[in-house]
Amino acid sequence: MNLTDQALAKACCADLYQSDVARLVFGDSLHPGGLALTNRLARLMEVQAGDWVLDLASGRGVSAMAVSRVFHCNVVGVEFGAASVAESLAKSTESPSAPTSFFIRGDAECPPIRPGRFDSAFCECSMSLFMDKAGAVGEITRLLRPGGRFGLSDVTLAPGALPTELDGTVGQLLCLSDALDVQGYLSLLEGAGLEVVVQEDSSAGILKIMDQVEGKLGALNAWMSLYPQADQNSDVLDTVPRVIATLRAIVESGDLGYWTFVAQKPL
Ligand SMILES: C[S@@+](CC[C@H](N)C(=O)[O-])C[C@H]1O[C@@H](n2cnc3c(N)ncnc32)[C@H](O)[C@@H]1O
Repeated sequence: MNLTDQALAKACCADLYQSDVARLVFGDSLHPGGLALTNRLARLMEVQAGDWVLDLASGRGVSAMAVSRVFHCNVVGVEFGAASVAESLAKSTESPSAPTSFFIRGDAECPPIRPGRFDSAFCECSMSLFMDKAGAVGEITRLLRPGGRFGLSDVTLAPGALPTELDGTVGQLLCLSDALDVQGYLSLLEGAGLEVVVQEDSSAGILKIMDQVEGKLGALNAWMSLYPQADQNSDVLDTVPRVIATLRAIVESGDLGYWTFVAQKPL
């Protein structure tokens, strides 16, 4: 893929996550485990008050703002989607105190930031979307100070386990299309010279998201039975339960999961 095609693909991906459908399915925190898992990741990264922390592919900015608030640190979010960055900036400046989370529009695979400045960095449910994963982890390593930690949480998928029905926009929205297996992420981190210090199975978050989506669909079905003229959404209502049933089967087989890793740059 040439550079123009890559930029277009990243813009399409960002549009998908800025969409109302993504907000409806996931809410504002666009990863399994929500802010509870974000806070756990930051604890495992040993974030300290006053630290400078990078959030790569920061989405709607809720993780960056939560980490800066809970850990009293400064967080810089980098995100490709212009609307997501605008929303993040608006929310971060709403607070009466000086903002400690900052957002820039850019490519998280090669952030426009000077090297060696950050105490830690994290990337939630987004590495699976990056086209050049090895290049991105190399860049993250370059941005960290010696001893700095990188926290990664992402979808894991066994090679060949993606059903053909999910090999399209739905697979991309769910971060499945280009996800690695656990060994793939470990090799990626170690290949950049990082030492993996934590690896945890966080797959319970995926099942919880599916439960939540089913709950929302139940409410939507009930609403539509009261207002039958709104049945233009019936295709979605038919498709989503089938997708969820397929996903549950892959999670239960152990081929699909969500894992958390923390890796340290050598001193
Ligand atoms: C599943 S969402 C996760 C967002 C956020 N990390 C969270 O957990 O709430 C994936 C995000 O990655 C962003 N993204 C994908 N590729 C990117 C890239 N190369 N540079 C910056 N952002 C990117 C998308 O725009 C989207 O906001």
